[in-house]
Amino acid sequence: MKNKTQYSCQSCGFSTSKWLGRCPECGGWNSLVEEKIVNTKDNSIAAVRDQFQVPGKTTSNLIKLGDENSNLRPGFSNRSITHSKELDRVLGGGMVPDGFVLIGGDPGIGKSTLLLQVADGFMQSNPEKHVLYVSGEESLEQIQSRAKRLKIENSNSIFLAAETQLEKVFNLVKETNPSLLIMDSLQTFSTGFIESAPGTVSQVREVTSRLMNLAKSARIAVWLVGHVTKDGAIAGPKIVEHLVDTVLYFEGEQGQTMRLLRTVKNRFGNTNELGVFEMTSEGLSDVANPSSLFLSERSQEAVGTAIVATMEGSRPLLVELQALCVPSPYGTPRRTSVGLDSQKLAILTAVLEKHAEAPILNHDLFFNVAGGLKLSEPACDLASMAAILSSIIERPIPSSTVFLGEVGLTGEVRKVSQIELRIDEAKKLGFKEVVLPWSQMDRAKKTKGISLVGIQHVSELRSKI
Ligand code: TYD
Ligand code: MG
Repeated sequence: MKNKTQYSCQSCGFSTSKWLGRCPECGGWNSLVEEKIVNTKDNSIAAVRDQFQVPGKTTSNLIKLGDENSNLRPGFSNRSITHSKELDRVLGGGMVPDGFVLIGGDPGIGKSTLLLQVADGFMQSNPEKHVLYVSGEESLEQIQSRAKRLKIENSNSIFLAAETQLEKVFNLVKETNPSLLIMDSLQTFSTGFIESAPGTVSQVREVTSRLMNLAKSARIAVWLVGHVTKDGAIAGPKIVEHLVDTVLYFEGEQGQTMRLLRTVKNRFGNTNELGVFEMTSEGLSDVANPSSLFLSERSQEAVGTAIVATMEGSRPLLVELQALCVPSPYGTPRRTSVGLDSQKLAILTAVLEKHAEAPILNHDLFFNVAGGLKLSEPACDLASMAAILSSIIERPIPSSTVFLGEVGLTGEVRKVSQIELRIDEAKKLGFKEVVLPWSQMDRAKKTKGISLVGIQHVSELRSKI
């Protein structure tokens, strides 16, 4: 059969049959690389599926929507709880037996550490099963020494292999019959069906789709690690997100111990869930009450700080927002923001200038979300503005006040979602007052024991701080 050649952009995954100097999709220069696809009969998805068909199980994919005791997807009902409550939360209530999870993140953030702990936790709740951990980037000794450090208890039920050839991994799967397969990492594996180097777009795609087939036909939970690369030189996890069931991203500042695990996509649960972990000398441990962690270093009644209750998935989180305004020596004032989109900050400052008479256009503004969290929720508008205003007029906000509200371009304060949950969390952490949209006062009154202050327009903000 004829071999096909294609040129794939290594940054965005665009492919074409002829070489181009510039990728028409993402505009990257010199990013197209020749990739050969060996076209053999075995290359079909059906071949992989046949290889792993579980004997005795139905081959038909046809059932009725209402069929309850169908054994086609046992996953949804038989979730196994992992070792960590935070991890269960991001997975939507535990691990699905044939779920395919992609976990992305910067190198060194703690992905391999988490997966060893996942393997250990899985063995604790499923002592009769097996786990296969395949590493393409570390030696067996390295993994063993990490396992010692993590005090992995079930090390005799976890098979370890150092391998980069996908076909050989499949043989290992046949040999060890695992219920959980961990592949670390995506960019190091390659299949013989494609000639290009490991980590190129076509390899990454092919490896992922073959693993997906393995997960579904042999009913194995597969966890795949993908490094996020900034320069796009190696194809990253973004390119295969659409193929997998669940996409988790591991974030955190280098040098800090807090790690955030975020659900970007989940066929078995909510997206935007957030798990909070701490990296300790014995691996990752759950942070049971993240709000108190985010607020732990807060200084009392400081100028330029305000607290907001933001929703991360189904969980409310209290976060401190900080603003520093200093008179600008230049015609164009500086705007620097960490954790809040700079476009958003530009809008908020313009609304403040226009509707709250804050002389912000001749001030440099530095904005920060404490604890390294990234905020994208409109419900944080009012608190961000309160922090900026407090810095401009040099008046501290009482440390027991929380702000909630979206602000429109005309300065009106709009409703936020799930207000009761947010107020409850504030009350739990000992806050005494919530400034919230006037239109939601009635709904919020259900929560007793915290004083509520309604606000209709940002022009009133000055009198509330
Ligand atoms: P690792 O899991 O190797 O990261 P990744 O697989 O995402 O590249 O973790 C790397 C960092 O974690 C490393 O700098 C050391 C740190 N670490 C701890 O702080 N405590 C531990 O118990 C372990 C195993 C690692
Ligand atoms: Mg690793």
